[in-house]
Amino acid sequence: MSLFVKKPISQLIADAADSEKGLKRTLTAWSLIALGIGAIIGAGLFVRTAAAAAQSAGPSVTIGFLVAAFGCALAGLCYAELSSSIPIAGSAYTYSYATMGEFVAWIIGWDLVLEYAVGAATVGIAWSEYLNNLLVKVLHLSPIPYEWCHSPFEHLNGMSGIINLPALFIVALLSLLLIKGTQDSAVVNGIIVITKVTIVILIIVIGWGFINPANHTPYIPPASTYIDTQGISHNFGGFWGIIGAAGTVFFAFIGFDAVSTAAQEAKNPKRDMPTGILGSLAICTILYVLFAHVLTGVATVQDFRTSGKEASVAFAINKYMLGYGWLGKLVTVAILGGFSSVILVMLLGQSRVFYSMSKDGLLPAVFGKVHPKYKTPYMANLIILILVGLFAAFIPGDIVGDMTSIGTLFAFSLVCIGVIILRKTEPDLKREFRTPWVPFIPILGVIVCVLMMCGLGWTNWLRLFGWLAIGLVIYFTYSRHHSKLRNPDKE
Ligand code: ALA
Repeated sequence: MSLFVKKPISQLIADAADSEKGLKRTLTAWSLIALGIGAIIGAGLFVRTAAAAAQSAGPSVTIGFLVAAFGCALAGLCYAELSSSIPIAGSAYTYSYATMGEFVAWIIGWDLVLEYAVGAATVGIAWSEYLNNLLVKVLHLSPIPYEWCHSPFEHLNGMSGIINLPALFIVALLSLLLIKGTQDSAVVNGIIVITKVTIVILIIVIGWGFINPANHTPYIPPASTYIDTQGISHNFGGFWGIIGAAGTVFFAFIGFDAVSTAAQEAKNPKRDMPTGILGSLAICTILYVLFAHVLTGVATVQDFRTSGKEASVAFAINKYMLGYGWLGKLVTVAILGGFSSVILVMLLGQSRVFYSMSKDGLLPAVFGKVHPKYKTPYMANLIILILVGLFAAFIPGDIVGDMTSIGTLFAFSLVCIGVIILRKTEPDLKREFRTPWVPFIPILGVIVCVLMMCGLGWTNWLRLFGWLAIGLVIYFTYSRHHSKLRNPDKE
């Protein structure tokens, strides 16, 4: 059987009918937008904006946000078509099984580990930075010693990290909550969304008055090279600085694809899916650009390269916005809560992908094992806990963040290609929503996503290829021989 054997769409739809019978169409466009914003605003904005300004673009990180948003909007239109024509939760992995065959589906499924599992680790590390800020600035306690809240690859003023214990702790705690079946209820999500958006708006409005025009001059720094404290060199300033920043802050938009997984629950998917996906993207883009403009105006690039690297937003408020210490405290508490919900959604997404892959036979059955009492895929959650925990405890935040971005951009590119292929192979399939101007929009989507991947530099390409190479070994030694589609008689 060919490497590119496809799962028939009819079988997918039958699977969906079988396993997700109870889903009701209750979500309106506004609830979809809220769902999107809940999953989107997190470490990308509150931590990686400063990293992108420091390493790549200075104040022009705002233009980087616009480039990233453009790429996401193009991919979002493709997600909207696929999620409305293949109405089953399972994200890009499921779509590609039907459009590009098992081999590509495996690659995407494996690659999604970078988006969800490594993404959860990234936000866990950011959570650890803000926890220290909470201990010191809000509760006036001693900080956790440097070596116990940093990876062994991080060094500062002669100190070296050993393990990031708080990041490990939050990942473990939320994984255990997921095993118990904690539901992201609409009410909790609503409260978190309102809190996050309020904080962002407060910082924009109050911070605007503290912008120092000198920090914005020049707005686009001239092209040069910046070597960070880890010895890694980055293109700083100019065109490639902006593209590099786009690749870094792209992380801030990850999560909008979560809206696509709710296609089966949307009241009017044809109208509401694109509104939910593009609406949440549009609102976040406006907030992000204004926020980045304020943050890079309040503090200097040098701050973000040195002491203001960690908990960067609270740092900028405390150092430069005198009289607004209360805002710094509020931000710290709200961010800790906001990050937790993003980690939860990512861990949940990862367990769903592993679960689907295990049901298809591409991963061992243990990944699909459901807890007798809690009815959750607890073994998948425990394995993910170990995987994410290792990343969170031992790898620096910048590295896992960039790995997440490159992995997700790769998945988005394949989703765009999937739309073009499905139009050819299944022209008559009922599509609740059609991506406009196919193949122009999907091709442009691939170009912008690949451009951002280029902006992330060759070390991240190496990491991506390394990760995919491990995936290929697993596919050819295990998954291919256990695939249910290939071996229908083997149970
Ligand atoms: N977009 C999410 C965040 O920024 C992943 O934390």
